[in-house]
Amino acid sequence: MTKLKTAVIGVGSLGQHHARNFAEIAALNETEFVGVCDSNEKNARSIAEKNNCQFYTDWRELLDLTDAVSIVTPTEMHSEIACAFLEKGVNVLVEKPIARTLEEADLMIETAAKSGAKLMVGHLERFNPAMVALRPFVTTPLYFEIHRVSPFPNRSLDVDVVLDVMIHDLDAIQWLVDSKVSEIRAVGIPVISDKVDAANARIEFENGAVANITASRIGTEKIRKTRFYQTNSYVVLDYGTKFASVTSLAPNAIHPLLGISINRLEINDVEPLRAEIEAFLNCILKDETPPITAADGRRALSLALGVLDKIKAHRSRLNV
Ligand SMILES: NC(=O)c1ccc[n+]([C@@H]2O[C@H](COP(=O)([O-])OP(=O)(O)OC[C@H]3O[C@@H](n4cnc5c(N)ncnc54)[C@H](O)[C@@H]3O)[C@@H](O)[C@H]2O)c1
Repeated sequence: MTKLKTAVIGVGSLGQHHARNFAEIAALNETEFVGVCDSNEKNARSIAEKNNCQFYTDWRELLDLTDAVSIVTPTEMHSEIACAFLEKGVNVLVEKPIARTLEEADLMIETAAKSGAKLMVGHLERFNPAMVALRPFVTTPLYFEIHRVSPFPNRSLDVDVVLDVMIHDLDAIQWLVDSKVSEIRAVGIPVISDKVDAANARIEFENGAVANITASRIGTEKIRKTRFYQTNSYVVLDYGTKFASVTSLAPNAIHPLLGISINRLEINDVEPLRAEIEAFLNCILKDETPPITAADGRRALSLALGVLDKIKAHRSRLNV
């Protein structure tokens, strides 16, 4: 069987890790890593040297050389580059958020549907080992308290904190709660950049579940923690330390205080990005639906844009 020819477009802070993983997978003789592309030649050359592959500065040169690509450029370029590859029948793993607008996302979805190429979105936290361990224990989440805080980054400043990082949690809650969003409330402010740097959203679902999410990129420490309550259990998930636990009352407990059991889940500590890229390649080889579809990416984007609309409305009331 001929090997899949892979490449990475955009090898900045995250794309370099895509490149390393594709190169490692190719070294196992499962795929052929054609090369990396970055419009910044210095970046392209240095990441190509590290991974012993070709470098390109114009992604169009890769259109006829590849079967599967990761697109890790700034979000504003996702749709144009993805559509060009999808039109050629090249399978695409695009970083989150899928695009800037729902129109761009729809164009990507239509283009993939026409050519039959796979389109997967990199909502990486679904591959975090703590989430992988926890997922089978999730039943009916009813109330989430979520914090995602980091010091100010020197990247992704083309988008606000909602599209940059809160979107991870907006994807996760919709994936875990089997119901439609019914109400969004949100506040947010620019503090250091000219875009929203800190935000809080309260998302309510038709089934009554509620998520309270705080995202900030002007913190003094790094926190990526989700806590939620579901019928008969309390769940803690820490993406940063890769920890997950489920606290519940032992079935035969004679007294609540004596019967509390904390199940600290066993974690299979693999690199989430490696798992994501392997899942992408597997869905191509097995001709299966990607584990994170473009519709999932669009759904997360749609909720993020809804949160941003509410933030805008709130700010106009505040007159700031
Ligand atoms: N899944 C996650 O957890 C996660 C984390 C970080 C970033 N991201 C996403 O990854 C994407 C990239 O983010 P980043 O932090 O690596 O940004 P970055 O700015 O560090 O890197 C982007 C790279 O793309 C290159 N580039 C720009 N235009 C290009 C073009 N037309 N052709 C080829 N290369 C081009 C830039 O030179 C740069 O090297 C964004 O969509 C971001 O939201 C996802």
